[in-house]
Amino acid sequence: MSTTTPTGSSTRPVSPLHPYAGRFPVHGTMPETGVAREEILDELRQMSSEEDAKGDSGRVSGSIYSGDHDHYHFLTEAYGYYAHSNVLQRDMYPSATKMEAEIIAMTADMLHGDVSPDGDVGGLVTSGGTESLVTAMLTYREWGRNVKGIDRPQIIMPVTAHPGHDKGMHYFGIEAIKAPVTKDFVVDLDFVREHIGPNTVALVGSAGTYPHGIIDPIPELGQLAIEHNLGLHVDGCLGGFIIPWAEDLGYPLPPFDLRVPGVTSISADTHKYGYALKGSSVLLFRPKALRRQQYLLIDGWPGGNYASPSMGGSRSGGLIAATWASMLHLGKAGYRAIAADIFRTADEIKGAVRTHPELSLIGDSLFNVAFRATPGDSALDIYHVNDALADRGWRMNALQLPPALHFCVTRPNTQPGITAAFAHDLAEAVEYAKNPPTAMPRSGAVYGAGGRMPPQRDALQATIADRLDSLHEVGPLD
Ligand SMILES: Cc1ncc(COP(=O)(O)O)c(C=O)c1O
Repeated sequence: MSTTTPTGSSTRPVSPLHPYAGRFPVHGTMPETGVAREEILDELRQMSSEEDAKGDSGRVSGSIYSGDHDHYHFLTEAYGYYAHSNVLQRDMYPSATKMEAEIIAMTADMLHGDVSPDGDVGGLVTSGGTESLVTAMLTYREWGRNVKGIDRPQIIMPVTAHPGHDKGMHYFGIEAIKAPVTKDFVVDLDFVREHIGPNTVALVGSAGTYPHGIIDPIPELGQLAIEHNLGLHVDGCLGGFIIPWAEDLGYPLPPFDLRVPGVTSISADTHKYGYALKGSSVLLFRPKALRRQQYLLIDGWPGGNYASPSMGGSRSGGLIAATWASMLHLGKAGYRAIAADIFRTADEIKGAVRTHPELSLIGDSLFNVAFRATPGDSALDIYHVNDALADRGWRMNALQLPPALHFCVTRPNTQPGITAAFAHDLAEAVEYAKNPPTAMPRSGAVYGAGGRMPPQRDALQATIADRLDSLHEVGPLD
């Protein structure tokens, strides 16, 4: 039974952002009579299996980290037992307390922190990388105010650090001081040193960065943080669950975790290389008391005394159960084995890039291979390379400043034949870019858009805002 309810808005422009319009009913209003479960599930099955095909093909950078559908089924079963539970009601669901504490303890163990009752590390499970970063920013604002009397806080972050930091600073009235990076794309320590001032509350470094997978000089940042009594947040949202295994696998790994003096918080996303379901990340604090800076304790509310440890109010126990299940099931050996495949695949991709003098690697990440056009008079436009790769089914991530692409290697990319196919298609893409059919490439650098960019470059900001609006509106009603 169709529940399409025309609302008379036939003048609504057809939006290319709503690809299912015309194929499935568009619901502009809530149906008066409910749709049959089987019809709903059938639509979901069709859409999800078609959409998964792209990620499962192994030609997508980042985004899909596990790709193992048996693992997903296992996690979904774990999720299902608790999807409806509310972690806010701790007395009703004590298992969530057990699992959450164990997720934090297992993450801290991996990152060499001690969460035992005598240890100096405490943690939170958040809804994802951005919430972990936003929470860290809030923590340092509060710490600066409560401990150092700073009421106009500044945080120094490298330009390569994730915009989740900016989001937190935007929300909480913190000034972001953007440190440039050196020719090696790590944070410029001289700039950081010179810009530490009376209002600085914290520094940020990444392990590794989203654009290039590069690890900032965390020990040096730690020293600066200690010298000036500042916080230091290490953003391991992307790298936190993959680079720790490098050491065991014999790859060189610069120090980045809680072994480094001066690191006062670190984030690591369980929903990325932790292979859990989307919607979870871990944020660790050192000392443990730092975590309290962002607790909200309200007394005198007629609803009762209110105590909230993090951003969320009611939270589903399902994500906690699925995250816990993922970590427990894979264990160190499981994570190590997947990491070995990922590092090998990244090595092969780097090898393919190196065969083209027209391309240059940025950094030497173990898992996130970034490359740009080799600068020079006849430099290629790297976005033309991206166009040709996209035509061959690859979904790269397009970067800017400088224009570049990255291939963030995940488990689906480790399938046999993928790197050979990439090497073949990259060679064709380089040839295409040497003599492109149009001067203007189709792709550009819009985060989360798979390198696709609307053509109106001059009105980019407005166009992106329009796109965000469109994403939240139903498509044309049929
Ligand atoms: C380095 C880094 N930090 C933070 C984030 C934000 O994570 P999320 O998208 O889960 O909010 C990302 C996402 O890719 C990232 O790469």
